[in-house]
Amino acid sequence: MTTPPGARLARALTIAGQVIDPQWHRAILAVDRAQFIPDTVWVTSADHPGYYVPVTRDDPDHARWAHEDYALATQVDDGDPAGGPDGEPGWGKLRTSSISQPSLVVAMLQQLGAVDGHRVLEIGTGTGYNTALLCHALGEKAVVSAEIDRELARVAVDNLARAGYAPTVLDTDGAGPLETGVGTGMYHRVISTVAARGRIPHAWVRQV
Ligand SMILES: C[S@@+](CC[C@H](N)C(=O)[O-])C[C@H]1O[C@@H](n2cnc3c(N)ncnc32)[C@H](O)[C@@H]1O
Repeated sequence: MTTPPGARLARALTIAGQVIDPQWHRAILAVDRAQFIPDTVWVTSADHPGYYVPVTRDDPDHARWAHEDYALATQVDDGDPAGGPDGEPGWGKLRTSSISQPSLVVAMLQQLGAVDGHRVLEIGTGTGYNTALLCHALGEKAVVSAEIDRELARVAVDNLARAGYAPTVLDTDGAGPLETGVGTGMYHRVISTVAARGRIPHAWVRQV
């Protein structure tokens, strides 16, 4: 029997008591998080606070982090790294996209209370990992995800296709009025992996 791609992560989250709902346990087992992580990720610099240092796939930490409970910056400076304090290429100043920490991802999904037959709108596709978990649990036709950065949306669609899913991914501002193709008020749940500053955008309320 082959080991499911998410076995290591699922075991870690189970031992830590974070995965309780079997539908999300099955999804974490089935989806390979490493497939959603780009060749370069960024970590905060210990020597230069306020800067992000690139870590590439040839670094063993890159593979380890994929299967453990780490959030990783997957884009800095909107995809055009500004450089380090002494002009080091590839260093970044501002984290502009990330793959969320798996324990947070599963906590949010468990709180969502989505069950088979529900349609879910996700705001903040990022890498598409969370989208893939939703697709595994609810079916790809039940999932629509919005990503404000066009290039990230394109990469997420590719990542999802490689994992075997083709949900609707919109390259649009999820905080604005959304043309999701399903119709306003047609979702059972909305999940946002984007911070809503101040108050929840009314566009999200209108979708449920
Ligand atoms: C924390 S990351 C998403 C993590 C993602 N769910 C994953 O599994 O990789 C947040 C993402 O939301 C996107 N974003 C920020 N504001 C947004 C908005 N108003 N509408 C849609 N996407 C937005 C960012 O570009 C970023 O890619």
